[in-house]
Amino acid sequence: MPPRGSGTRQWIAVDDYFSDQLARHDEGLDAALQHNQDAGLPAIDVSPLLGRFLEVLARIAAARRILEIGTLGGYSTIWLARALPEGGQVVSLELNPRHAKVARANLRKAGVLERVDLRVGRAMDSLAALLAAGVEPFDMIFIDADKSGYPEYLDWALKLARPGTVIVADNVVRNGKVIQAGSTDPDVQGVRRFTEKLASEPSLRATVLQTVGIKGHDGFAVAVVLG
Ligand code: SAH
Ligand code: DHB
Ligand code: MG
Repeated sequence: MPPRGSGTRQWIAVDDYFSDQLARHDEGLDAALQHNQDAGLPAIDVSPLLGRFLEVLARIAAARRILEIGTLGGYSTIWLARALPEGGQVVSLELNPRHAKVARANLRKAGVLERVDLRVGRAMDSLAALLAAGVEPFDMIFIDADKSGYPEYLDWALKLARPGTVIVADNVVRNGKVIQAGSTDPDVQGVRRFTEKLASEPSLRATVLQTVGIKGHDGFAVAVVLG
C-alpha cells in the first residue's frame, strides 16, 4: 500500500493546484483543447504546467527560432509561440494533415498563426528540407513526434542547432516503460537509443526530469549543445 496521500489522485490535485496558480488557461489554449476534443484528436498534448515549462525554457534561452517536431493540435506550439520576441518564429512539423488543419485553426484563434511555420509531412523529410535550405540554426528544439524516431530526430536536431541550443524531448519515461531493456515496443527502444545518444554525444549535456501530474508518470529530457 502506498502511503496515504500519495499516488495518482494526489498528483492530479497538486498539478491542478499549481496550474490554477501559475498556468491558468486562457481562451486561446482552452479553445485549442476543446477543438482537439471535438475533432477527435488524442488528448496527448503537454499539460498546462509543462506548456508553461516550455515557455519558461524558451524565455531563458531567449529563443527567437524554435523547432517543434510533432504539432498535434498546436497546444504546445501556442505556449512556445507566446515565448517569442517580435519577429520570432516556431517551425512545427506534423505528419497528419487532419492534425495540422486543427492546429492551424487553433493557432489562428490564439493569435499566433503568423509566428508559426507549420509543415505537413514526415518529420524526417521536413528536417532534411530545412537543412538543405540552409535555414538559420534553431535556439530551441522540442521533440514530441513518434518516439521510435527520437534517435534520428536528435541527429537532425544537432545539425540544425548551434552551441547553446536547448533540446527538449517529451515522453521519455512513459510510466517507467523506458527501463524495460528487453521491450519489443519500438517506442521504448526509440527512447532508449535516444538516451544512449544523449549520453554519448560529446557536444551535449543532458538530464531528465521525471514528471507526475494530470498526464500520469512521464518525463522530459533537457539538453544543451556545448560550445
Ligand atoms: N506537441 C503536441 C503533441 C504532439 S503528439 C502537444 O504537446 O500539444 C505527436 C504528434 O506527432 C502527432 O500529431 C502525430 O501525428 C505526429 N507524428 C507522428 N509521427 C510523425 C512523423 N513521422 N512526422 C511528423 N509528425 C509525426
Ligand atoms: C502519448 C503522449 C504524448 O505526449 C505523445 O507525444 C505521444 C503519445 C501517449 O500517451 O500515448
Ligand atoms: Mg508528448
